[in-house]
Amino acid sequence: MKKLHFNAHLLIGGLIMVLLIILFLDMYFFSLEKMPALPDNPLYKNSQTPVEDRITDLMSYMTLDEKIGQMALVEKGSVSDLEDVNTYAFGAILSGSGSKPEKNTFEGWRMMVQEFTSTSRASRLGIPILYGVDAIHGHSNVPGATLFPHSIGLGASGNESLVYEVAQATGKELIATGITWSYSPTLDMPEDIRWGRTYESFSDDPVLVGRLGVAYVQGMHSATGQDSSKVLATAKHYLGLGGMQWNTSSSKDYFIDQGVTPPDETKLRTTYLAPFTEVISAGVHTVMVGLNSWGSTKLAAERYLLTDLLKSELGFEGFLVSDWYGVYEIPGSDYRAAITAIRAGVDMVMLPFDYKPFIYNVRNAVLRKEIPIERIDDAVRRILRVKFTMGLFDTMQIPQPLSDEDLFEHKTLARQAVRESLVLLKDPQGLLPLHSNSSTTIRITGSAADNIGRQAGAWTIEWQGVDGNWIPGATSILQGLRGVAGPNVTFEYSQSGTYDETSPVDIGIAIVGERPYAEGWGDNTNPSLSDEDVRAIANLQKVCKRIIVILVTGRPLLITDAIDDWDAVVVAWLPGSEGAGVADVLYGVQPFTGSLPLPWPAHIGQLPIVDGKTKDGTSPLFPRYFGLR
Ligand code: GLC
Repeated sequence: MKKLHFNAHLLIGGLIMVLLIILFLDMYFFSLEKMPALPDNPLYKNSQTPVEDRITDLMSYMTLDEKIGQMALVEKGSVSDLEDVNTYAFGAILSGSGSKPEKNTFEGWRMMVQEFTSTSRASRLGIPILYGVDAIHGHSNVPGATLFPHSIGLGASGNESLVYEVAQATGKELIATGITWSYSPTLDMPEDIRWGRTYESFSDDPVLVGRLGVAYVQGMHSATGQDSSKVLATAKHYLGLGGMQWNTSSSKDYFIDQGVTPPDETKLRTTYLAPFTEVISAGVHTVMVGLNSWGSTKLAAERYLLTDLLKSELGFEGFLVSDWYGVYEIPGSDYRAAITAIRAGVDMVMLPFDYKPFIYNVRNAVLRKEIPIERIDDAVRRILRVKFTMGLFDTMQIPQPLSDEDLFEHKTLARQAVRESLVLLKDPQGLLPLHSNSSTTIRITGSAADNIGRQAGAWTIEWQGVDGNWIPGATSILQGLRGVAGPNVTFEYSQSGTYDETSPVDIGIAIVGERPYAEGWGDNTNPSLSDEDVRAIANLQKVCKRIIVILVTGRPLLITDAIDDWDAVVVAWLPGSEGAGVADVLYGVQPFTGSLPLPWPAHIGQLPIVDGKTKDGTSPLFPRYFGLR
């Protein structure tokens, strides 16, 4: 028996040894791959050369490893050695939301991004990296940056030129930190408001989403800065993310996010694809693949949608980037998943945690002819086409700080965007606009009255947002009211609505809403007001004759049973840093012009609402495009 054991150990040890030798030889021989000699002034560095010729020339010097490196989008926190940016020739670096420099300031970002960018330019072929963030409502990782209303508020404005300007201003604030890529706009169309990403969308109407998506892409691409390239917009998430079904999430922590979109060919053409067709015609260069599934297939594995439809039929010539850990959620080993995704049409793979196995696996897959080299060359050509087209090779990308004037201009624009995003749902007594020409006292309550973190929503400094009132350079709604109403009006504030009941006043304003949330963490079985806010409203009603309710929310909330007790109702969505924009409209500086970008359900049984039709056939509380003027 003992002898048998000994032989088994010997066999296992021998097998491990053989595997290690194969691995070493693999790495050793491959690293010897011939590096084509580089002339002093290669054609690809000449900005007068046609782009396709520049690409062909550059690729003739690239090793297989350098090509695979360009297909890697690496999260900055996982870069263990800055030299790896050079060694592996990464195509891009991203900061996931909240992945910030030690000094989270414009200057801190500029220095961090510059370190990565200059390292990539010092590489053998000098291919600059793209640096990407989720600037979905401004350069919102940075305290002090302009925080625009989240997309649902821009959808309520319906204003293309406003969205164009918002995207352009966002692009300028990105350029001031050397960032060249934003993962925005979102073109998802939410059918079920229980989804935690409803607020990232403009609307559930593909026509409006297409119009605003085009405006956003063109606005961001128009942003300029001294000696800077274009800033890339990204059409996301391809596709059908808003059509996922409740309780189908692939994540045990979520309900609908990363869930299943029924593979409905009619909806594919009439709804989901329409905005992408629009933005491709408008010149978008990158498309991000969603984390949802199309029927039983993860989007990153769906060759028909990624290649046959988007690239062949629609003629998309930019590149497809996968989302977060999406490639590795494809069933099978990491090796097999990478092969499946790249063969399906993913050109650049987002690698939030580890890049070396990806490069090793893809290299081996190419050597074993499990990924045709033609597919690698196509992906790299697409990536380089975008980099050449946006001017990344032809500018030194030394970012200049934003001027105070520019920042002031952007905040003024953001305040205008807030004004246009507000929707008046109810005001039968004509309480609004309020008047400030006579001395009066107004009582304020609610969790979102003096809480900038709440009015900004998530994707603000941290992925899940910052529930508090400390964001520098921003104004809460209460602060805005005090600034706009003037000296005749006294605002009393009690978050809980606790006041002296013996001296009622005429008007009370309850500014209530949701705590910040991002992605599946915002999936909610019953999106409604918190108990704290319900109590605050009840308390306010004891000490005010009439109340105005302001909803600070990322989505329609279930208010059917309470709205009859409210005298006026305004939806402010997630307005961002410029809370004074809400006060402007409440005091008539500007009239209400906003309308609901998606239907407002009366109860859960109506969800999902598809193209305005509720699941149970009853009428929503308010239809899409409702808004009193
Ligand atoms: C996230 C989101 C995507 C975002 C990406 C990078 O998981 O799904 O919208 O752009 O990761 O932060």
